[in-house]
Amino acid sequence: MNSRGSVDALHRSTMHGEPPAHRERLLAFRPLDPTNRPAPLKTYTGVAATLLPRELRPSSSSAVEVLSGHVAEPGQLDEGLLGTLLFLAAGITRVARTVDGDPIWFRSAMSAGNLHPVEVYVVGDDVHHYQPLDHALVPLRRGVHVCDDVTLVLTGIPFRTCWKYGERGWRHLWWDAGALLANLLAAADAHGVPAQILVGFSDAAVAALVGIDGVDEVPLALVRFGTGELRLPPPEALEPVTARAEPVARRVLRFPLVVDAHTETALDLDAVARWQQAALSVSQPAPAVVEAPPDPYSDDRVEHVILRRGSTRLFRRQRAPSALLEWGLPAACRAVPLDAAPAGTLLEHFVNVHDVAGAEPGGYRYTAVGGFEGCTRSDDPRAAGSRLCLDQPLGGDSAYTVFHAVTLDPLLDTLGGRGYRSAQLEAGIAAGRLALNAVAVGGGATGLTFYDGLVSRYFHTEAAPLLAVAVGIPQTRPARSGAPGHPVELPGYGRLMSRLAAGLHRS
Ligand SMILES: Cc1cc2nc3c(=O)[nH]c(=O)nc-3n(C[C@H](O)[C@H](O)[C@H](O)COP(=O)(O)O)c2cc1C
Repeated sequence: MNSRGSVDALHRSTMHGEPPAHRERLLAFRPLDPTNRPAPLKTYTGVAATLLPRELRPSSSSAVEVLSGHVAEPGQLDEGLLGTLLFLAAGITRVARTVDGDPIWFRSAMSAGNLHPVEVYVVGDDVHHYQPLDHALVPLRRGVHVCDDVTLVLTGIPFRTCWKYGERGWRHLWWDAGALLANLLAAADAHGVPAQILVGFSDAAVAALVGIDGVDEVPLALVRFGTGELRLPPPEALEPVTARAEPVARRVLRFPLVVDAHTETALDLDAVARWQQAALSVSQPAPAVVEAPPDPYSDDRVEHVILRRGSTRLFRRQRAPSALLEWGLPAACRAVPLDAAPAGTLLEHFVNVHDVAGAEPGGYRYTAVGGFEGCTRSDDPRAAGSRLCLDQPLGGDSAYTVFHAVTLDPLLDTLGGRGYRSAQLEAGIAAGRLALNAVAVGGGATGLTFYDGLVSRYFHTEAAPLLAVAVGIPQTRPARSGAPGHPVELPGYGRLMSRLAAGLHRS
C-alpha cells in the first residue's frame, strides 16, 4: 500500500496543456452534465440534528497578528466555540439564486467551481456530521470515546468535483480541504485552541468511524484539538452507521484513476508512525511566526477577515502596497501544523510579480529559508501571468500570482503517494492563508487553475506547480456574509456572471 504509481498516473494524466500519460484510463463522461448534478450538501434522512449556538464567539487578537502566527491566550473549546470554528471553516455565508430561484450556496472558504466537495465530522465521545445549512450536528454514533477532546474528520466526495473537473478533481479535494483548513487554523489560533492536522492515519478505521465507503466518499485529513490519545476503533469493532445519507447524485460516476489514486495511497494503522517519521527527511524548515505588518491593519479580527473574503472576480490593474506581497506571502508560507511536514513545510513557491510597490516585476522563487530569488524576466509579466493561468485575465490583472509547488520525485520516493496527498493539502492551506492575508491588508485573491508544464518551464524549475493564487486590488468588494443559519442573499449574481461570461469587463 501507499505506492507512488497511482498518483504518478493521475498527476501525469491530468496536466493542463500536456497530453495525458494514460489517456486510455480516463473516463469518457460529460462534464457538468445538468441531468446528473451532484447535491451540494450531504444530508441524512430520519435523524434529528442538534442546532449549534448561532452566535459567533468574538476573538480579541488582531487578525494580522494571528495570521502572522501569534496564537491567542489558551481558550476553552466548548460547544459555542466549536460552532464558531465550524462556521468560519465550513459554514454557509451567502446565497445566490439561479434564474429558476434555486439556491447556490457560498461558504466561508473558497472552493473551485464553488462545488465544495469536503464534508466535516466531529468526533469525541460521539460522532456527528456538521450540517452547515442549519448550522447543526447530525448524530451518527454514540459512546465511541475516540478521544477525550475533539477531533474533526475531513472527508471528500470525489464526484462532487469530478463532475466538472474529471480526474483532476482528485487534486481539488485536497486544495479545497486546505482552503477550509486555513480558515480553521486561523480561527482556532485566534481563540487559543491550536490544532494539529494529520494526513497519516488508517483510512479504513476513519472511514468506518464516520460511516463512509472510502470510495464515493473518502477520508482526507484529521484535525486534532488537544494532545490526548486518539483511539480509533478497528473497523470490525464498529456496527454500521444506521443514519441514511441521501445519494450524492442520480448516477455517481467512478473515475478509475481517482479510485486507484485514493485506495493505493491508503495506510494501515501499523504503518502510520513509520510514515510520519519518514516525513522528517523531506520537509523543510519554515518559521511558525513572521513579523506582522504595521498599522493601520490592527483593528480587524480573524472572523471579520474570513467573513469579508470572497474570491475576487475582477482585479484593478494598479500598484499594490508592499504588505500585500512582502507580508502576505511569507505569512501564508509559514510552517503548517501538519504531520507530513514536521520541519515546517513540503513546498516552495513561484511568484510572478506584476505591480507591487518596491518589487521589480518578474518571476521569483520564494522559500521560507531563501526568501525571494529572481528566476525569470518577461517583457510582459501580466500577459505571462494570464497565459500561465489557462489564459484567465485574473492571472495577469492581479498584482502578483503565486504557484505553490513541490518537486515530486523526492517527495514520492520518501512518502509514497500519500506524500502527494500531503503536498496538495499544504498547497490548499497556503492558498487559503494567502486569500485571508490579502483581505486582511485591503486586497483580494482568487484560486486559479494553470497550465502545469508551462508554469514549470516559465520559472525554469523541475518543481511541479500544485495550485495558483492571484492576489491584487479587487475592482469590487464581495458582499457581506450572513450569520450561521442566515446566509446573506446576493442580488444580481446572475447578471454579474453573464457580464463576466461576455468578457465585458475589459471594455
Ligand atoms: C483550488 C481552487 C481553484 C480555483 N480556480 C479558479 C479558476 O481557475 N478561475 C476562477 O475564476 N476562480 C477559481 N477559483 C475560485 C472559485 O471559483 C471560488 O472560490 C468559488 O466560486 C466560490 O466563491 P467564493 O470563493 O467567493 O466563496 C478557484 C478556487 C479554488 C479553491
